[in-house]
Amino acid sequence: MMKPERLDKLLSNLGYGIRKDVAHWIRRGWVTIDGERATSPAQKVVADQVRLEGKELDHAHGLTIIYHKPLGAVCSRKEDGLLIYEDFPERWIGRKPPLSSVGRLDKETSGLLIITDDGQLNHQLTSPKKHISKTYAVTLDKPLSGHEKALFASGKLMLETDDRPCLPAELNEINETEVTLVLHEGRYHQVRRMFAAVENHVKTLTRTHIGSLSLSETGLKPGSYQTTTPHELMQLVTRSHKP
Ligand code: URA
Repeated sequence: MMKPERLDKLLSNLGYGIRKDVAHWIRRGWVTIDGERATSPAQKVVADQVRLEGKELDHAHGLTIIYHKPLGAVCSRKEDGLLIYEDFPERWIGRKPPLSSVGRLDKETSGLLIITDDGQLNHQLTSPKKHISKTYAVTLDKPLSGHEKALFASGKLMLETDDRPCLPAELNEINETEVTLVLHEGRYHQVRRMFAAVENHVKTLTRTHIGSLSLSETGLKPGSYQTTTPHELMQLVTRSHKP
């Protein structure tokens, strides 16, 4: 059960506007509590009682998004250029707690990305201790030389500037320049740096799975998304079959 909170705080934390806006909407009679016109911004309410212009509040109990990140978009709020957040309703950007992506995909990487305001979910999906793998489809500039699979699986691969070796990762060869790579941790530019360490270069990179959730089963086109709950998401990513 949610704790009652001030009406103006509730609406501003859901990104509807600043508290002054809320006072204005109340005066106009646009806000109702259990069907009755709201009387004060300081009224203590829970979200399910409130309607704004007759509508339920948008994702009042938290927001978790399954997103197909397109090529060229950046997982940041502040950089120049195309930001992933531009693919979502503007109101979501003003929410508190804020949305953040679960790890990041590079500008030139596409694929499955989770965005959530739930810190615990974020931790569960990123902590290596929780064993949620991430699978990438990779095309390479040069043919594999043959030793990469064993090296990546060894747990001994040291990347430049890191102070400990990568956890064992599974490389599956589709052909000599196309592979899938399953990681059990998420370091900065990890896939690109792993192939750079074996003198190759990643030409295209797509995250195809998070745990047992596959991008293809979502049917999401680049730049599109669906919303879910942390519980449903955890079920999707921890189904027993391996990606
Ligand atoms: N590894 C990378 O190099 N880039 C990503 O975006 C994800 C994993």
